[in-house]
Amino acid sequence: MSSFRDDGALAVDWVASYLERVREFPVLSQAEPGAIRASLPQTPPEDPEPFSNVLADLDGVLGPGLTHWQSPRFFAYFATTSTEPAILAELLAAGLNQVGILWRTSPALQELEELTLDWLAQLLGLPPGLHGHIEDTASTSTLVALAVARAVAPGRRVVLCSEHAHSSVDKATRLLELELRKVPADEAFRLRPDAMELADACAVVATIGTTSSTSVDPVAEIADRCEKECVWLHVDAAYAGAAAVCPELRDRFVGWERADSIVVNPHKWLGVPTDCSTLWTRRQDAFRDAFSLIPEYLRVAEEVTSLSEHTQVLGRRFRALKLWAVLRCYGRSGLQERIREHVRLAGLFEQLVRAEGGWEIVAPRPFSVVCFRRVGSDDLNEEILERVNASGEVFISHTRLGGRYVLRLAIGSFRTTEEDVRLAWDVLRREADAL
Ligand SMILES: Cc1ncc(COP(=O)(O)O)c(C=O)c1O
Repeated sequence: MSSFRDDGALAVDWVASYLERVREFPVLSQAEPGAIRASLPQTPPEDPEPFSNVLADLDGVLGPGLTHWQSPRFFAYFATTSTEPAILAELLAAGLNQVGILWRTSPALQELEELTLDWLAQLLGLPPGLHGHIEDTASTSTLVALAVARAVAPGRRVVLCSEHAHSSVDKATRLLELELRKVPADEAFRLRPDAMELADACAVVATIGTTSSTSVDPVAEIADRCEKECVWLHVDAAYAGAAAVCPELRDRFVGWERADSIVVNPHKWLGVPTDCSTLWTRRQDAFRDAFSLIPEYLRVAEEVTSLSEHTQVLGRRFRALKLWAVLRCYGRSGLQERIREHVRLAGLFEQLVRAEGGWEIVAPRPFSVVCFRRVGSDDLNEEILERVNASGEVFISHTRLGGRYVLRLAIGSFRTTEEDVRLAWDVLRREADAL
């Protein structure tokens, strides 16, 4: 067995070199389906190999199969960043291998998680008194929140969300055997509260920052209706929630403090590597009533509610460590600086599109995602997307809005510069002109 210290130094060095060079790689993997698997041994090794072989294959074999989410030129879906402090915290978490099944199995894990969620709530301007914990993804956070909503309103089986809500709401209602009612949106892709029919409803999911256009549902109006009719309000701010760290962007969040549960994904726009989804509630008792189940072998003398009593999983890993590391190493000012810069760069890109004939902006831009298209057919726009992504220089994605195929440029990497954004625009124009 080779030396952990030497291998560790090599691995950290490998990551540092990777991050220095990542801008140079084709952003979207150009591998053919099955090619990576075919280039690996089809049977496991009989005898131990040195760890350096693993590193070597990362470069030689797996490299072509990597889509570079860490690239500053990744503009697809929601661009993310795994920051250096969080990368190191992941290493430490694996080294410590805390398994938070009960408070006593790692008091540090539980208490740091609760404190860090408190800190983040303060940074986002959320009111005091919320209880927060970490889930793997927003899909799980929403599933858990809707399970609680179902439990507090037995007999009510309907969940409402906008036609632009994320598909995780569809999946959650399918798993929970609830009926999903999609509410039509207005011309700015926001849920229309006047079209909400709350009879039989146990929950409404309002989105701040929808996946396609980042539109913002009118949460305050939705909260008025939910309060009047005793319906659970879950706010999905998986992507956009991070923006609330900037006071000047808080007007997009009016009313979210009245939600029964709120999800924000620090693994989207807050510099934390996947996975890390934060879920707050002001109905902690309802979560405990829905999920607390302590078998004999887990009974303890101390009177502490363990985080496993707030959700469906028993064991949790030390995810709080990487979030804590980011909050400490960036601070409020560092996070605000990144988010502001992304919003500025998205504004710049929007201006570039508007200033050029033959292109159009197709949705308002509340945050750092620009929805646009080349004037012309859906096929034309699809072809532009394919050509841009095949170039490897940048990676963008698409959606459909108002029935039309739309291109999306999402800015969210802490490493993206103005030069990267200008390059994206040059590549788009070049590929469009070539058609
Ligand atoms: C608004 C919104 N909610 C939920 C999700 C699901 O996130 P996750 O991948 O963490 O489950 C997404 C993913 O992009 C999203 O955009």
